[in-house]
Amino acid sequence: MDGEEKRQEGITLAVISTLAALSLVSLLVAFAYYCHIRSKLARVRRQNDHGRKNENAEKMEHGNGPVGGGGGGEVRVMVGEKAGVQVFSYKQLHAATGGFGKGNVVGHGSFGSVYRGVLPDGRKIAVKLMDRTGKQGEEEFKMEVELLTRLRSSYLLGLIGYCSDGSHRLLVYEFMANGGLQEHLYPTGGTCAGVSKLDWETRMKIALEAAKGLEYLHEHVNPPVIHRDFKSSNILLDKNFHAKVSDFGLAKLGSDKAGGHVSTRVLGTQGYVAPEYALTGHLTTKSDVYSYGVVLLELLTGRVPVDMKRPPGEGVLVSWALPWLTDRERVVQIMDPAMEGQYSMKDVVQVAAIAAMCVQPEADYRPLMADVVQSLVPLVKHKPTAKVASCSNHHTPKSPATSE
Ligand SMILES: Nc1ncnc2c1ncn2[C@@H]1O[C@H](COP(=O)(O)OP(=O)(O)OP(=O)(O)O)[C@@H](O)[C@H]1O
Ligand SMILES: [Mg+2]
Repeated sequence: MDGEEKRQEGITLAVISTLAALSLVSLLVAFAYYCHIRSKLARVRRQNDHGRKNENAEKMEHGNGPVGGGGGGEVRVMVGEKAGVQVFSYKQLHAATGGFGKGNVVGHGSFGSVYRGVLPDGRKIAVKLMDRTGKQGEEEFKMEVELLTRLRSSYLLGLIGYCSDGSHRLLVYEFMANGGLQEHLYPTGGTCAGVSKLDWETRMKIALEAAKGLEYLHEHVNPPVIHRDFKSSNILLDKNFHAKVSDFGLAKLGSDKAGGHVSTRVLGTQGYVAPEYALTGHLTTKSDVYSYGVVLLELLTGRVPVDMKRPPGEGVLVSWALPWLTDRERVVQIMDPAMEGQYSMKDVVQVAAIAAMCVQPEADYRPLMADVVQSLVPLVKHKPTAKVASCSNHHTPKSPATSE
């Protein structure tokens, strides 16, 4: 009996010391891994800082850089300077757009119609005629416009000027020949009705450039600017399909104009709004990251954010796509069939992982836009200009409208 007890004691001791040794080894491995990740993150951060500094230096050199620059690559936004904003009379814009003729309408949004126009110096413009002027004070309108004019980046749509003539409120932008991204993802007319002509490479380039636009607003401007209404129709494409983010800050103007009522503008656009913002009104740059994730899903799947005509479970893009995004074997099944054969599995898995991180419900765990940019850079092949057949006909540059 004594011998048996001793044997059992010996076994117990051996088990305990093995377990203790194993725990020690696991702790050491975990610590080593932690150190590895830390040094990796520090390296990435150093590279990012370096990259950002270079980018800022480049922008400054090309006269497209941040205005009123603060230290460390940030833009300190200063309101009150007059530089850069052109003030137009209603008559000038009336002339530039051929009397706001129907033939010059390029789109309609919740602020009103957008018209194509040409200035007397030959510059092509897009004029947004705001039809909900309401109680917005003239000074406030101008302040907001001037603030927007100071946000300069090649990834943001340039505001050329404004008109605040009597009750008229108009915004004048650079003209983007290929219009909104949504027109190319979901073509409705012509030969490409229903099938997008945007190929994988162009979609990835658009995803990267739009991410850089948001990164600029969030991280190169002080205080950061939250877009609030990031969506595919607010990504505009120039004649070479380079993307620019538009309507940053406009959501704020919209909410003021609603005269204190909670308008749809306050909550952005259905299908793009982060859950915490929709539920609590708590707005951070991470709400934009969520909306960015939705746009990335649109680019991957070719599906609109909300479509209740789809079968049950498929109506809301994020809920439908989320379980597939992290499944390496099946993620390819949710890709837009229009892009079949154009991508590698490795790239798809990577972009799907980025999208999944952006749309996760917990805002704190969503990545920064700088991280998104870093992850997308290696996936974008640099080809000189995109050759994409245009499906929309109303953006084809026309002969200049009658000008004064
Ligand atoms: N600068 C521009 N150049 C060319 N087309 C433009 C320009 N700005 C807007 N558009 C066209 O006008 C359409 C309407 O734009 P607008 O910003 O008014 O509305 P939206 O983005 O669709 O919706 P919301 O008002 O909710 O933001 C766009 O989808 C695009 O096709
Ligand atoms: Mg818009």
